[in-house]
Amino acid sequence: MRPFHGRRILLGVTGGIACYKSLILARLLTQAGVEVDVVMTAAAQEFVGRITFEALTGRPTYSSLLDAGHALDHVRLARAADLIVVAPATADFLARAAQGRADDLLSACLLAADAPVLIVPAMNDRMWAHRQTALNAGHLRELGYVVIEPADGPLAVGEGSGPGRMPEPESIMAHIGRLLETRGTLEGRRVVVTAGPTREAMDPVRYISNHSSGLMGVSIAAAAWRRGADVLLVHGPLMVPLPEGVQSVAVQTTQQMRDVVAAALGSSDALIMAAAPADFAPRDPSKTKIRKGDLPAPIELSPTPDILVTTRRDRKPGSIIVGFALETGDPRASAREKLIRKGLDMIVANDATEAGAGFGVPTNRVVFIHADEREEALPLLPKEEVADELLDRVEMLLERSSGR
Ligand code: CTP
Repeated sequence: MRPFHGRRILLGVTGGIACYKSLILARLLTQAGVEVDVVMTAAAQEFVGRITFEALTGRPTYSSLLDAGHALDHVRLARAADLIVVAPATADFLARAAQGRADDLLSACLLAADAPVLIVPAMNDRMWAHRQTALNAGHLRELGYVVIEPADGPLAVGEGSGPGRMPEPESIMAHIGRLLETRGTLEGRRVVVTAGPTREAMDPVRYISNHSSGLMGVSIAAAAWRRGADVLLVHGPLMVPLPEGVQSVAVQTTQQMRDVVAAALGSSDALIMAAAPADFAPRDPSKTKIRKGDLPAPIELSPTPDILVTTRRDRKPGSIIVGFALETGDPRASAREKLIRKGLDMIVANDATEAGAGFGVPTNRVVFIHADEREEALPLLPKEEVADELLDRVEMLLERSSGR
């Protein structure tokens, strides 16, 4: 899985209760194709066993700085790593790393490394809030380490909740992905992505919608953030988790999605309309629940605004606009027509009737159709990879557009 496959990560584990989540992180990394070298402090071994990490990573776990036959482990492990991740990083570890101590294997590795370092603090909320801890974290950031904020949520049993909790392994994975990303860059770019369906109420309990899960748009937003973009995700009800790092706005109706997109377009370098907005809304939604006995009564529909068409004048000059076209049957002719009618730079066409493509599945087979009529047909790919392929094109278009 890009950008993880074939990379090597030194995972430092220090002694806090959040160690149990580091096991899941080690597993996710290994499943994504990373070679994981786990380095544990003595305190970490009081919480979880070395053998557990070894079984999950299929590799030895290291913990001692001064073992005969392992004198240079700190140099060897640090040099081999593409990235060092310390998760959890306790208050004590932050203090020691900020001082440049090297009296255990993990802190020595940190000093011997050229690779980027990601530090994931986890501790009691009062320890995190202490001025000394803030100074230590600030100093580590000045040294160039990436220190992410702990999450706000339940702490160790009986300790209530507060900022100090270790972020979930999936969210740490997203930060790791951002540091490992070797593909193009969208740094300094503002990208708006839409995802998921919208819902149009028939009455207070029913609505018109479609089967979009939001996975395609969410994958694009995640990949754009990984490339350094400032991402706004405008989404309807999603069946997949929100991605890390992006600013998100939840909407229900097509009109609401249109309004948020219109307001954001003036300062956006790219809009990627992966959402499947409902095209019709009940003309006069009932204020009370429609009773079974009231049927059959025709429900009159009226069209919702076309977001791409009605926001054309809100676009920032030179910005790149990408649409999707989900068709039943060969999507190309109709997609080309939509590209022109909606004023797009590129449209991503796919066939909803093909197995493995379209709504509710993790893969997609798409054709990129460009404004100059060039077509690129991609094989069946996971949606995450379609997202990366799409962003490669968006970057090229942005470069060309800013060079104009
Ligand atoms: N789209 C939009 N506003 C809508 C509906 C769709 O901006 N109200 C966007 C979609 O997000 C997509 C593109 O327009 O990027 C094409 O959507 P699609 O549903 O394929 O086309 P429609 O315009 O709805 O045309 P038709 O229903 O005739 O296929």
